[in-house]
Amino acid sequence: MKTPYGNIVGWGKYAPERIVTNDDLAQRVDTSDEWIRARSGIRERRMVGEDEHTSTMAVGAGREALERAGLTAADLDLIIVATSSPDYLTPPVSSQVQDLLGASCGAFQVVVGCTGFVYSLAIAQQFIATGACRTILVVGAELTSRWIDWEDRATCVLFGDGAGAVVLQASDEPSGVLAFVLGSDGSGAEHLIVPGGGVAHPPSHETVDARLNYVRMNGREVFKFATRKMPETLEAVLGKAGLTVDDLDLLIPHQANLRIIEYAAGQLGIPMEKVVVNVDRYGNTSAASIPLALCEALDEGRARPGDTLALVAFGAGLTWASAVVRLGLHTPAFRTPATAAEAVS
Ligand code: COA
Repeated sequence: MKTPYGNIVGWGKYAPERIVTNDDLAQRVDTSDEWIRARSGIRERRMVGEDEHTSTMAVGAGREALERAGLTAADLDLIIVATSSPDYLTPPVSSQVQDLLGASCGAFQVVVGCTGFVYSLAIAQQFIATGACRTILVVGAELTSRWIDWEDRATCVLFGDGAGAVVLQASDEPSGVLAFVLGSDGSGAEHLIVPGGGVAHPPSHETVDARLNYVRMNGREVFKFATRKMPETLEAVLGKAGLTVDDLDLLIPHQANLRIIEYAAGQLGIPMEKVVVNVDRYGNTSAASIPLALCEALDEGRARPGDTLALVAFGAGLTWASAVVRLGLHTPAFRTPATAAEAVS
């Protein structure tokens, strides 16, 4: 029997309505539109309202992905939610998502910082390749605005909220994740960490007073790490897939910082026309950033049937991950109105 591939048959995103510009932030912390744009490329980001949570954003993206695939929650064999900002420490947000979608399959949460979605795609592909599952929903959802330290101007200006999702389905056509590289270097843990709230420093008056329950980042160290790892892991995954950069139709990098994206693309000689960038409009949405960018590329017809994409991410851990993904040639979702013109041209 042939090993099935995990073709992307549906995609969807959820972006909270509220847009927060750099000028809005400048009224809250000592910063400026000019500084944020020059250092990160970010102009605005989305932030949730009071009644929105990671679970509701994940469900919004998941519903759209299922609809696009022409499927219902009952068709799902597994749900994987990548997030570092679940509604609760326990239960896993994946079970809330399963319940809210009305699915009756297994569900679990993957906590690997900003690389979580690429890790989750690689995991999903294994379940499909072994024949254990036929249809899997993979979501990246992140509500960063409630765990950033609004007194730390060096980090709070960089993040945003959102969610993106894809449905993978078993197919004989060579498609979906063709190769992946997953990496971790825990010696860099301190560079991107929420020190309090876990079992090392359980929540207490002291942890709250010391602001240990918020994310802390050593921006310079993370910058150095990202600019080293992004090109390295991209090269490695292309090698694994037996491809070169010329075979790539699109690069979809983690949207943390425009300077990091441009550096990584430049190192490999990938022209910026082939790089999906939306960090200017969403900021860093952590595990949601790659699926949000992927969904936009698919909706806009920039990613088309048969295209070969490279996804590359870095984040807390420190971790990194890359994947080569091929879009199916005969996926019905491409015939929906948003992409119909491109699909037939
Ligand atoms: N507005 C205005 N000034 C700010 C500021 C803000 N929001 N944040 C920091 N500054 C100031 C600093 O206080 C510092 O001032 P000083 O020189 O008087 O001490 C100055 O700007 C430079 O700070 P520095 O941290 O050296 O800036 P940088 O060029 O390294 O840029 C980052 C900072 C965070 C944008 C950059 O390091 C970065 O992008 N790192 C990677 C982060 C990342 O990708 N994280 C996601 C991981 S998934």
